[in-house]
Amino acid sequence: MTEIKATNVHWHEGNITRDERWGALGSKGMTLWFTGLSGSGKSTIAVALEQALVNSGIPSYRLDGDNIRMGLNKNLGFSAADREENIRRISEVSKLFADAGVVTLTSFISPYRKDRDFCREIHKADGLEFCEIFVDTPLDVCEQRDPKGLYKKARAGEIKGFTGIDDPYEAPASPELVLDTSKLSVEDSVVKCLEWITGKGVELKNG
Ligand code: ADX
Repeated sequence: MTEIKATNVHWHEGNITRDERWGALGSKGMTLWFTGLSGSGKSTIAVALEQALVNSGIPSYRLDGDNIRMGLNKNLGFSAADREENIRRISEVSKLFADAGVVTLTSFISPYRKDRDFCREIHKADGLEFCEIFVDTPLDVCEQRDPKGLYKKARAGEIKGFTGIDDPYEAPASPELVLDTSKLSVEDSVVKCLEWITGKGVELKNG
């Protein structure tokens, strides 16, 4: 649980509405949350989706687990408490990006259901669309890919508490999309995401 230390703070309203802000951009902000094991393909799909969106005139931005852990979240490790804080911060950041009018793509293992549910809840409470995407690639495929050599290290006992090996991953109960990249190409995964996005009223402009 996050200890609340910020007291005597008051919400300061702006002078323009969200619709006015989104109108200036010609867009609609939302968050697509990719969750799944390391090596499942979250970042690869997010990269291709961001490219497809921006090439279609839609402002999009990726928040990537490894990248964010090199800056904003560099003081967090992989204990349960640190993973929770990692996801809490990115939930809040993604909500801000979505509110700004950006189609926000997050790729974090985000192994705990309650933390992802928190993100869904704060988006819903703020009237923002949220799409949980379970990148459901089997562990043995992720381990075979092992793009960063981390599964090998985890099996050798050189990394403790590695998700899927000796740390839990709680699969989503009812995600909006499920993508198994051992069966689906990156292009087909992107098409499924684009279908969801356009179904929420985003018009692709040049695509
Ligand atoms: S999360 O669990 O807190 O959501 P996050 O997505 O930010 O994780 O970071 C995962 C990345 O950190 C992995 O892709 C991998 O490169 C690296 N990593 C380092 N140690 C671990 C670990 N113990 N478990 C999982 N990933 C790890």
